[in-house]
Amino acid sequence: MMTPEFWSIPDSTLTTAELAEKTSTLRHRLLSITEKFSDVRFATSLAAEDMVMTDAIAQSKAKIALFTLETGRLHQETVDMTKTTEDCYGISIARAYPEESDVQAFIDQYGMNGFYDGEEAKKACCGARKIKPLNAALIGADAWLTGQRREQSTTRVELNFEEHDDARGITKFNPLFDWTEEDIWAYIKQENVPIHPLHLKGYPSIGCEPCTRQVKKGEDIRAGRWWWLQSDSKECGLHVNK
Ligand code: ADX
Ligand code: SF4
Repeated sequence: MMTPEFWSIPDSTLTTAELAEKTSTLRHRLLSITEKFSDVRFATSLAAEDMVMTDAIAQSKAKIALFTLETGRLHQETVDMTKTTEDCYGISIARAYPEESDVQAFIDQYGMNGFYDGEEAKKACCGARKIKPLNAALIGADAWLTGQRREQSTTRVELNFEEHDDARGITKFNPLFDWTEEDIWAYIKQENVPIHPLHLKGYPSIGCEPCTRQVKKGEDIRAGRWWWLQSDSKECGLHVNK
């Protein structure tokens, strides 16, 4: 049997000048946010886009705090990547954990891996392990940032730099909204940004371990996320604006 060929890090055709322009715009975006808001927090999943954001935050010296949602179902590589990033940039990344009672209630009702049975259970699991901890991690913040890009999915094509997060009543920014996959990898290469080891094993997009798999060459870059669900359900609710 032939081994399938998996997604791999794309080569870049971006010129140095084009990348410099993008990088400068990104740094200006970050600084423009901290000029207007005092308590700004960036949610990092430790995947490629978020490493670009982390590097740009560090290089621009923008006053932005970092946190990650440690769902309890991440790959060990993701947990390790948090520490690698802290050591590399000399920063600290706050860990937001789910409440044990919420996780237990999910397990009691649906089973540990009940999310494979359908949308409702997946929503409940993401609710307990991601959404509630996200809400808690944003208490007191004036604005928060993500590493989302328009190109990532049909659900993100209308993404803007700035939006109002109705669910949390604060402003939300997507400073990479107009970046392409190629831009991301060109930046990483040029700035020597540390990367999540699973990007070298066929994973373009990385979430929780049981809900993420490798993507074949030519497949959608989010095809490995919640692959058993329809593409319009492939959001965990972190970015649902209601
Ligand atoms: S998801 O909604 O499908 O899980 P995706 O993996 O594309 O999201 O990431 C989009 C953005 O959501 C990231 O750039 C990051 O800002 C935020 N995010 C996703 N997962 C996490 C996590 N575990 N911890 C913190 N932020 C996260
Ligand atoms: Fe649960 Fe999967 Fe959502 Fe993680 S991505 S919180 S394991 S359903």
